[in-house]
This record gives sequence, C-alpha cells and structure tokens, in this order.
Amino acid sequence: MQSNKTILVTGASSGIGLLVASKLHENGYHVIGTSRDPKKHQAKLPFKVLPLDLNDDHSIACFGKLLFSEVEQLDVLINNAGYLVNGLAEETSIELGKQQFETNFWGTIKLTNELLPYFRKQKDGKIITIGSLLGLVGLPNVSYYAASKHALEGYFKSLRFELAQFNIKVVMVEPMSFKTSIGESGTVAAGTIKDYDMLRQRVTAYTKTTFDKAPQPTPVITTLLQAVKEKNPKFNYPVGKGSSFILLLQHFAYKTFERSILRSVNSSK
Ligand SMILES: NC(=O)c1ccc[n+]([C@@H]2O[C@H](COP(=O)([O-])OP(=O)(O)OC[C@H]3O[C@@H](n4cnc5c(N)ncnc54)[C@H](OP(=O)(O)O)[C@@H]3O)[C@@H](O)[C@H]2O)c1
Repeated sequence: MQSNKTILVTGASSGIGLLVASKLHENGYHVIGTSRDPKKHQAKLPFKVLPLDLNDDHSIACFGKLLFSEVEQLDVLINNAGYLVNGLAEETSIELGKQQFETNFWGTIKLTNELLPYFRKQKDGKIITIGSLLGLVGLPNVSYYAASKHALEGYFKSLRFELAQFNIKVVMVEPMSFKTSIGESGTVAAGTIKDYDMLRQRVTAYTKTTFDKAPQPTPVITTLLQAVKEKNPKFNYPVGKGSSFILLLQHFAYKTFERSILRSVNSSK
C-alpha cells in the first residue's frame, strides 16, 4: 500500500516508537523519527531520524524548522517519546517527579505547540499521543508516571475541542504493559523510609512480574495504525488484554478493582 502521508514519530529508536515507525514506513508512509542521539540509530533504520530532546527547550524550539527542511507537510504527529519513574510516592523525590513531568507532560506539550502553527495553516492534521492505561487508572509504585499520563489525558481532552475548527484530530492511545525497554530505561527511586519496607518489597516484585509477563506490543502497533487511518477517530484507544474490563471496574466497581490490585500486590514475592 502506498500513502503520501507524512508521519512524525517521536522516540522512534526503541520499543513502541521503533515498531510503529518501521510498520508505517513498510506500509508506504513517509516517516520521520526522532531520537536524542540520531547518529547512534540512523544506520540501522530505514526512515530519517532527526534529533529531539523533550527536556531541552532549544531542541524543541528548533524542531519545526528542522522538520520542514526535510518535509513539505506533516499529516500526523505521534507523540510517543517518554519514560518511567518507578517508586513509592513518598519515597520519590520532588526533583524526580518534576523530571518525569518535564519529559512526559511538558516536553510533549511543548513539541505539540511547536508544530501546531503548521497544522493550523494546513487546516488538517492529526495528533496521536501515547498515554497509558495509567493515565486512566492508578497503581502503586508509579505515582508520578500515572500523574504525568493523567495530565496528558486532561490536556488533550480540552485541546481536542479547540482544534476541531481547524480539522485537526486529537487522539490518545492508552496501552497496558507491553515488553519494551521502558522498564530498564527508566529511573527507580531509592527506598528510604523503613515503614514502607514490606510494601516496597511486594510492590517491586509485583512490578517486576508485570514487566516479565508483559506481551509484545503488537496490539499497540495495530491500534496506532487504525488511529492513523481513521478519518474521524475517537478520543480514547485503550489497548491490552483486559483493559476494557479494568475501565469498567474503575467506573462501576472501584472497590473491587482496588481489592484485586491489593491482592496481587500482597501475594507478590
Ligand atoms: N511499554 C509499555 O508497557 C507502555 C505502556 C503504556 C505506555 N507506554 C508509553 O509508550 C511510549 C514509548 O515507550 P516504550 O515502552 O516504547 O519505551 P522505550 O522502549 O524506552 O522507548 C522510549 C523512547 O522515548 C525516547 N525518549 C525518552 N526520553 C526522551 C526525551 N527526553 N526526549 C526525547 N525522546 C526521549 C527514547 O529515544 P532516545 O533514547 O533515542 O532519545 C525512546 O525511543 C512512552 O510514552 C510510554 O510511556 C509504554
């Protein structure tokens, strides 16, 4: 299948970003990826990789010009880049929490703002942001990550109304756990408060089991392709086995949801 659509995928050097960018390229889209270190990845990748660091305002401010020196138009922005801070809430320093927001929330918003003038001029475009099921529910050990992903949900939910007049579609894709580098590439807050020793031990085992058992991210790639192709996409695309059931419990039987999570955490070793 050939398509003349141009798609930007942030964080295309690894995991979901790498897989979706490769699949879109294979399907004939003109794909541009990003990495903080494009030189390290370019030779292995069949699509162009541009430098982008979501923690660096200068890198973001230069990005629109850089992108449009490579392409004539942009049809879809896939906001994928992000990372994970693990740790019990009280034991995670505010500094680590701020860094989590700087990348996952502020970096994503700043890049979107950098590209919005181009989309508005075109009167056409699509912004697909990879949130997380943790942007819709909370779990122990990921408070700042969940908060950063909840913040993205709220922001883009509002933005969707404002961009409808310019024919710019706004979409969130919310994956459950899938096997990528996110577990290793993230940051883990050190345990410092003795009162939490037992919970920390259990929750660390629970998190490790979740990552170990996580399936390959194929369903996320399928969903992203669907969201790219959809003419009038909906706002939320939760992905993963049981995600609809979890959301149903969260809305209609929250105590049952909490009990089942606590049971799993407490039986983790
Ligand atoms: N895997 C899961 O279970 C899961 C579940 C729900 C949501 N997600 C979300 O899916 C997205 C992709 O994660 P992944 O699982 O594929 O993880 P991953 O394999 O660790 O990939 C993360 C990507 O983000 C880029 N990145 C990280 N920090 C960046 C920064 N400061 N500036 C620019 N790029 C940065 C990395 O590129 P460079 O290092 O080359 O710069 C890398 O390509 C994230 O938003 C994550 O929160 C993942």
